[in-house]
Amino acid sequence: MSTQSAYNYKVVRQFTIMTVIWGIVGMLVGVIIAAQLVWPSLNFDIPWLTYSRLRPLHTNAVIFAFGGSALFATSYYVVQRTCQTRLFGGGLAAFTFWGWQLIIVLAAITLPLGYTSGKEYAELEWPIDILIAVVWVAYAVVFFGTIVMRKTPHIYVANWFYGAFILTVAVLHIVNSAALPVGMLKSYSAYPGTMDAMVQWWYGHNAVGFFLTAGFLGIMYYFVPKQAGRPVYSYRLSVVHFWALISVYMWAGPHHLQYTALPDWAQSLGMIFSLILLAPSWGGMINGIMTLSGAWHKLRTDPILKFLIVSLSFYGMSTFEGPMMSIKTVNALSHYTDWTIGHVHGGALGWVAMVTIGAVYALLPKLFGRDEMHSVKLIDTHFWIATIGVVLYIASMWIAGVMQGLMWRAVNDDGTLTYSFVESLEEMYPYLTVRLLGGLLFFIGMLLMAYNVWKTIAAGKAVDDTVPASA
Ligand code: HEM
Ligand code: HEM
Repeated sequence: MSTQSAYNYKVVRQFTIMTVIWGIVGMLVGVIIAAQLVWPSLNFDIPWLTYSRLRPLHTNAVIFAFGGSALFATSYYVVQRTCQTRLFGGGLAAFTFWGWQLIIVLAAITLPLGYTSGKEYAELEWPIDILIAVVWVAYAVVFFGTIVMRKTPHIYVANWFYGAFILTVAVLHIVNSAALPVGMLKSYSAYPGTMDAMVQWWYGHNAVGFFLTAGFLGIMYYFVPKQAGRPVYSYRLSVVHFWALISVYMWAGPHHLQYTALPDWAQSLGMIFSLILLAPSWGGMINGIMTLSGAWHKLRTDPILKFLIVSLSFYGMSTFEGPMMSIKTVNALSHYTDWTIGHVHGGALGWVAMVTIGAVYALLPKLFGRDEMHSVKLIDTHFWIATIGVVLYIASMWIAGVMQGLMWRAVNDDGTLTYSFVESLEEMYPYLTVRLLGGLLFFIGMLLMAYNVWKTIAAGKAVDDTVPASA
């Protein structure tokens, strides 16, 4: 009996290309706001170019447009390949593509115009929130429908991570976005005072844990073994990693609210769960890196593997740094400073962007009937530019952050502050400039990638692999 249908690669191709495009847009806005911090007049006194409006545009574009497209693309690819069945739901997958792009465009219009709910990483106003919920439920139906229709006996571990990411983001988004609308583009949170802050950072931290971590671990668990040509180092560790990670992440949110009106026990709970979180995080990192054991030599010649493995190193670094920053006494120094920004981009650029870039380079040729990307050498150049960019970004922010923290808390013998705020700001300029340079390098790397992607597509043609007749 033959069921010679083809995999649905069309939607994967669409999301993959948009990953590169939104990556460039989001990082360009990042470079612009980094430049505005060095030269504030770069907003040209135009309201919709002000830092306060472009900053959420940057975070939304890089997390949800760039990161989101990468997660849609890879999850749709991985779930089909590992379940050996075509994507479930007919045109529903196409609906998620166009729906998600519409949401991004609406965000790109409303945020610069100043419409915001004021909740970080959940700034979009209620009509867009409803659209997000609808598209996300459709995504869940396509993804889990495919799992149900699978022809393989077991569910590959990458799908566990993608599945947890999809389910959890639905719950986080719906609960945190509950609001009372008072106009088409204005609403008030359904939660009062401190409870609002608590719900917001339960959301915010798990957005990191499930959007920026679990989903990208799904990418890691498929693309690292594929690219290395080796099975996952330990399947057992991956199962322990999965359950430990998802059960611990949920409780760590209050570390964003140390020394606030939140009850002290909740702050301590957040700290303790953050410290515990080091273990599953490193379990995952070790599992990924050790997958390469016996094939280390491939790192010399394969720049895609370099992206994937170095991303895991940055993952390990930021998941060591995060627990340290959650310790109350450390947080007393780091909070409000650029140290946090350094930590964020160690995770966001070093881990999220680099693992995505590696996966796109691995995936794209397969979607366009090519053996490899147009230029492997250019991938290598991209790798080095990006790595130097991240290192400049995070090292400058670490120094700036610790300096800020120390200057703000310095007191004279008579109890007065040693430095005014402006003095601390003046000291920041060299570091803000180095951060701009680092970001610019990373952005230039993305332009090289776009060129390489363009040439690869131009010389290839869209192909959809055939689903095996039986598994
Ligand atoms: C060219 C690359 C990038 C540049 C130049 C850049 C620059 C910036 C700047 C200047 C800020 C504001 C910092 C501040 O308020 O002091 C920022 C914030 C942020 N960026 Fe980026 N960024 C880049 C890439 C990314 C990527 C790829 C992601 C995520 C995947 C990301 C996620 C974030 C987040 C979450 C924040 C908010 C941090 C917070 O509120 O603590 N960025 N970025
Ligand atoms: C074990 C893992 C991690 C722990 C325990 C952790 C902990 C922390 C802590 C304590 C803060 C500072 C909160 C504050 O003072 O306001 C923070 C901020 C942040 N972290 Fe992590 N982190 C971890 C991993 C990551 C990773 C892998 C990423 C990115 C992919 C990331 C993204 C962020 C972002 C975006 C913020 C800024 C939130 C904001 O204020 O807007 N974290 N994290």
